[in-house]
Amino acid sequence: TAISPFVQGLPKVELHLHIEGTLEPDLKFKLAARNGVELPYASEEEVRASYQFDDLASFLDAYYEGMSVLLTAEDFYDLAMEYFRKVARQNVRYVEMFFDPQAHTSRGVEFHTVISGLRRAQIEAREQLGVDSALIMCFLRDFQAEYAMATLLESLPYRPWIIGVGLDSDETGNPPAKFAAVFAKARELGYQLTMHCDVDIADSAEHIRQVLEDVRVDRVDHGTNVLEKPELVEYMASHGIGLTSCPISNTWVSDGSKVGLLTELDKRGVKVTVNSDDPAYFGGYIAENYQRVVDEAGVDKETLKRFARNAVDISWAPASLKERIA
Ligand code: ADE
Ligand code: ZN
Repeated sequence: TAISPFVQGLPKVELHLHIEGTLEPDLKFKLAARNGVELPYASEEEVRASYQFDDLASFLDAYYEGMSVLLTAEDFYDLAMEYFRKVARQNVRYVEMFFDPQAHTSRGVEFHTVISGLRRAQIEAREQLGVDSALIMCFLRDFQAEYAMATLLESLPYRPWIIGVGLDSDETGNPPAKFAAVFAKARELGYQLTMHCDVDIADSAEHIRQVLEDVRVDRVDHGTNVLEKPELVEYMASHGIGLTSCPISNTWVSDGSKVGLLTELDKRGVKVTVNSDDPAYFGGYIAENYQRVVDEAGVDKETLKRFARNAVDISWAPASLKERIA
């Protein structure tokens, strides 16, 4: 993708980025060699060629398989540091990044190992690259709610390092309501709340309703299907509840890029933002995602600036930081 000078120069805030989704094939091989992990691929090219997804499930298979090389705190540090270096070059000022502790604790890697590696990278990124960041802990919705609750409690010693909680992985058959108690507890503990509503399933609009009315999240990840329920669009607009859209990701795991829906939501007063989801798997970091919005819908510069400004507004950064990154 050719990135226009305007998109390149736009100060950016990323609110929907799975740090495990930034694991590029070359780092995958490097970590596999370092850790003595055998990969089912002979080369980086072969890995890349296997990234052909036709739905969320096929992506998730590759995503979780890739994590087998992440074992030590240094691995998580390297993963995050590579990401920060890349996006510092795309004029990213601040990132609220998801991590999936259960994708690691479920295979015997300690919570502390994961978060301490990420944390060290965050500190270095701020000092050396001028990129600020915060962590959002995601629960895997295809696991039981009890495991999410146990993970929430396990996070408590690290409470100051985590800004909020989210919900990701396979949405089909795993509605937001399944995690209502976990999220109520998380709110009590002072965490900000968000959830993925990313799949074009029959009950997608009902999931969005649960997220907004029952769980009462602070923002919604993906969620463009809210357009099926005008009263919920109005609710999001009037409550300043924004949405984190990921155009390139949507072309792989959804019914299309949804770029047309973004301009519609924008017109109706919903705070729309542009993000990258799992850039190593979907082939585009945040600048490529902004560029996609331009190339596909001819969105003008004022609208792009508004999307970028929305990300600052609906971020969970403290006021002093918001001023610095705007
Ligand atoms: N985990 C990582 N990326 C995801 C996505 N796009 N949807 C659901 N779960 C995810
Ligand atoms: Zn996501």
